[in-house]
Amino acid sequence: MTQNITVIGLQWGDEGKGKVVDAISRRCRYVARFCGGANAGHTVIVGSEKYALHLIPSGILREGMGNVIGNGVAFDPAVAWEEIEALRGRGIHADADNLHISAAANVVMPWHKLADRLSEASLGADKIGTTARGIGPCYADKATRSTAVRVADLLDEQVLAERVAHVVAIKNAVFAGLYNHDEPLDAAAITAEYADYGKKLGAMVTNTGVLLRQAIAAGEGICFEGGQGSLLDIDHGTFPFVTSSSVTACGVPSGAGVPPKAVGHVVGIVKAYTSRVGAGPFPTEQDNEIGNLLRERGHEYGTTTGRPRRCGWLDAVAVRYTADLSGVDEIALMLLDVPGTLESLRICTGYTIGGEPVDAYDASRLDRVECQYEELPGWSAEIEGMTRFEDLPGEAQHYVSRIEEILGRPVGIISVGPRRDQTILHHSALETL
Ligand code: IMP
Repeated sequence: MTQNITVIGLQWGDEGKGKVVDAISRRCRYVARFCGGANAGHTVIVGSEKYALHLIPSGILREGMGNVIGNGVAFDPAVAWEEIEALRGRGIHADADNLHISAAANVVMPWHKLADRLSEASLGADKIGTTARGIGPCYADKATRSTAVRVADLLDEQVLAERVAHVVAIKNAVFAGLYNHDEPLDAAAITAEYADYGKKLGAMVTNTGVLLRQAIAAGEGICFEGGQGSLLDIDHGTFPFVTSSSVTACGVPSGAGVPPKAVGHVVGIVKAYTSRVGAGPFPTEQDNEIGNLLRERGHEYGTTTGRPRRCGWLDAVAVRYTADLSGVDEIALMLLDVPGTLESLRICTGYTIGGEPVDAYDASRLDRVECQYEELPGWSAEIEGMTRFEDLPGEAQHYVSRIEEILGRPVGIISVGPRRDQTILHHSALETL
């Protein structure tokens, strides 16, 4: 019986989940996505090859692994098909025997991407700073129900034509009325394009909940691959500057169609500092030379949009909150090589407002908090080639140990570079990667 593993980001995304899923999934039969969509960007480096995946689970790079796109994903068939073709072009197998798409997942349609752009433009300075991938509008239609398109609808051209005609009539009226948009969507052209995706992807479409529950019954391990980061969660994140799905471990059961117990061992991914892309509060942000150094050394530019990421100190108050929320068993600390050149590093260990300590993490008050920092010495040695904890400079070991103490959880995995071999196992419950 292989234990299931859930891998989730504990900050604002881009923590390095792709690398950890790639390393951990070797012990599993399936890798399953349960939230988000093509707004995600998971970078995995295998040998000298670099892969940037958006919708296809990171397990696609391991031979013999089953990959599942669960019902909770906002599924963009255009992106999926482009990714599948690109992978095949590089000799990676991606077909019905190793890629399974939920028939119940909601489809990102052209009007969702248009709505995302129009809405953001109309908000001006108040915009959320979305990835413009149509994610929010797709989930909004899921909740509306009468205007939703599900993956199963792509497989029957007649059903699809009726659905698209119905929705396009509504969207054209809304876009014209609300945004003065004068280029109406063409229902026939959209139907033809998306019915074609249905034909190309049809063999991969299935009831993925049944597939995963059978795998659990057979004792096969599943790795649930989170997207985004917990502080972007629709319910528990820094609302309204969040994404539109449940991205914590709490989202796994409903987004993948498995019982809550199936979540298994929860690995929380934390960057050794913090980054955020898009708008919203960021108490430990360093909009200065330190932030610039972290951005350049950490290559902090969006995988999906190319936008420069905002950077700052590690916020242990936020991470403790998100780790508690998801019941994190161990931490994977990523990009430890990045802040090393700094003379000293800071960890935010508490918030105050007007000198009074703030007890609970409250996103609505984040723009008013003052950060209480603990200062730790940096290390000047390059640590990228190190494979054992004992080899790390004493200051780096101390930084890791303090994080363990503050978060009250073991740092099981430490990443000191993007490659598979630049990974140190420390206090992990997983004996091997
Ligand atoms: P949306 O998910 O495109 O609607 O964007 C909402 C917010 O989440 C924006 O601030 C995005 O920058 C952020 N976001 C969405 N997906 C990711 C991700 O995978 N990594 C980091 N930020 C993300």
